[in-house]
Amino acid sequence: MSDQSHYDPSHPINGLKPLSNGDGFTLPINPHDGSRLHDYSDPMMANGLPLEDVDEDDDDEEAEDDYVAVDHDDVNEYPYWFRRPPVHHRSKIDDLHPFVQVLTESNVEDCVAVEEAFPVQERCSREKFQYRLGRCPELCLGLFTLPILNHGQPKPRPTLVGHIIATRVSTPHVTDKSMELPENWKSERLTVVDGETVGHDDTGMSIAIHSLAVSSEHQGKGVGSTLMKSYIQRIREAMIADRIVIIAHDHLVAFYESFGFQKRGPSKCQFGGGGWTDLVRFFLSATRVPLLTSFQVLEFNTEE
Ligand SMILES: CC(C)(COP(=O)(O)OP(=O)(O)OC[C@H]1O[C@@H](n2cnc3c(N)ncnc32)[C@H](O)[C@@H]1OP(=O)(O)O)[C@@H](O)C(=O)NCCC(=O)NCCS
Repeated sequence: MSDQSHYDPSHPINGLKPLSNGDGFTLPINPHDGSRLHDYSDPMMANGLPLEDVDEDDDDEEAEDDYVAVDHDDVNEYPYWFRRPPVHHRSKIDDLHPFVQVLTESNVEDCVAVEEAFPVQERCSREKFQYRLGRCPELCLGLFTLPILNHGQPKPRPTLVGHIIATRVSTPHVTDKSMELPENWKSERLTVVDGETVGHDDTGMSIAIHSLAVSSEHQGKGVGSTLMKSYIQRIREAMIADRIVIIAHDHLVAFYESFGFQKRGPSKCQFGGGGWTDLVRFFLSATRVPLLTSFQVLEFNTEE
């Protein structure tokens, strides 16, 4: 080991030449050096401030200014405070600024226009709209669009975009007679032919949807689904029927099943050329709920 206090810079150390003249020198430490080093070490500990100016709590105060102390027992609640509002992805139907409303006789012409979505042989006639909207408007729902208005602009008439038209029936499925227009509908309240009610049957506990239609320019925007969901919710909450029944062509069976309708096989209806499938959406009506056991509810949901 070399004694560096007697280091000779002209001689290499371990064969290596020093990088500068000062390299390799260690000054001998005398008794004063320890106190001098101590004097310098305090300011270093105080991050550049004289120790007496340093309040040991400063760090904590800064922390209090900048951060929220987290009690780890409450940690699970914090995501609530920092949660971002849910992102609403605008859909095509949002652009319509839609609203749903029960239809009345004043909407007959609107319905005639929307009904053009059907092939001619399946369309409901103007007279049938007058009959159904006059007799049971509470079972007929429309989805309207209204443009955003500028200040002072007169409010235009809302445009009907889609409708659901229905009547009451006493049968568990839609029948041809329920779809017909009673001959004397303007003068007679009830028409019965061969023991079966023609058209709307006030006492029926099934609601038969005769038309779900969306005007062709607005199809595929979610109007039909929105209307059907809204309709089912209204009927269920009002507790005014045991079930909703409908007939549909095969390509729309899955569409109706997505709202809780059950497929019941081929329909006997020959309306518009036939080829329909019966579908049923069950509810528990106000009159029957208190009387049912859970076993009966199960039976009720699968009854024919
Ligand atoms: C059937 C009808 C009411 C659907 O209304 P819509 O507003 O176009 O339907 P939505 O935009 O809410 O579509 C929802 C789903 O329904 C299904 N659907 C809609 N129209 C369909 C059709 N013609 N064939 C098959 N599936 C269809 C699709 O699965 C669609 O889902 P997607 O968005 O993933 O494609 C509408 O197309 C219409 O008026 N058709 C003519 C009249 C008719 O046939 N009425 C039914 C009588 S039973």
